[in-house]
Amino acid sequence: MLARGTDLLKYEQAAGTAVAAFTVYTLESIRAVVDAAEATARPVLMSSGSSSYRVTGAPELAAAALAAAERASVPIGVHLDHCTDETEIARAIRLGYTSVMFDGSALPYAENLERTKAVVALAHAEGVWVEGELGALPGDEDASTDASAVELTDPAQAADFAARTGVDALAVAVGTVHGFSATPMYVDLPRLAAIAACTEIPLVLHGASGLPDANLAAAVRTGIAKVNVNAELRKAHREAMEHALAEQGDDLLRIQRAAVAAMTITAAEKIGVLSGKEN
Ligand code: 13P
Repeated sequence: MLARGTDLLKYEQAAGTAVAAFTVYTLESIRAVVDAAEATARPVLMSSGSSSYRVTGAPELAAAALAAAERASVPIGVHLDHCTDETEIARAIRLGYTSVMFDGSALPYAENLERTKAVVALAHAEGVWVEGELGALPGDEDASTDASAVELTDPAQAADFAARTGVDALAVAVGTVHGFSATPMYVDLPRLAAIAACTEIPLVLHGASGLPDANLAAAVRTGIAKVNVNAELRKAHREAMEHALAEQGDDLLRIQRAAVAAMTITAAEKIGVLSGKEN
């Protein structure tokens, strides 16, 4: 079923667990995320960033994700990830997305605040919830690059931002980067705890791929209610296709099945960690 509204986030926050938001690019990744959610009987979000549908088209990918979510036996939201363009946000809302992210993290604080607030007004009028971002999280959302120099979120500023913008969820920079990194990254748990102590807002962790399970689970216990995962699913997709291509020749159905199966396993494992079942 399609999950509308913030019940899902509030439920996770109260339970001390987190919902996984997986980036989807293809019908195979959509299928795998739904299969993983159903297999674990857990809600999930399907995310697509502004770039995810550069190849396939936004209306096509949105329609596929929404159709799959509606037919699922568990609540599934369809989320627009990292968007810096209000026109694109308005289009996503028209297409039926259940939540949107306005990423003003590269903007001066006052501008991030004002533009996020305006997106909140636009989205809330249509029953769509909004994620904002404060603090810079480096790296490429669609490919792993060697990123460093994270600008960590200031706890007091996070509280001010949440209160003044009215966002429903806040992405914070607490030491992770997008994609796999050459040096291991860890969530800065004391900083995350300080942010969580200042505000009631559900917190979002980006760049979860490559984090040790124990560190990720600790971040969830410390106040993270939504976790974005992309690179690990991409890796599973690519590796499964490589093997299948070598073994199956041009049997496209077998190649698709292998990709779906591999991504389902990866997604289900991650959902398990976020549900407090890592050990
Ligand atoms: P990873 O690629 O590190 O999983 O990050 C995904 C992400 O944060 C998308 O917004």
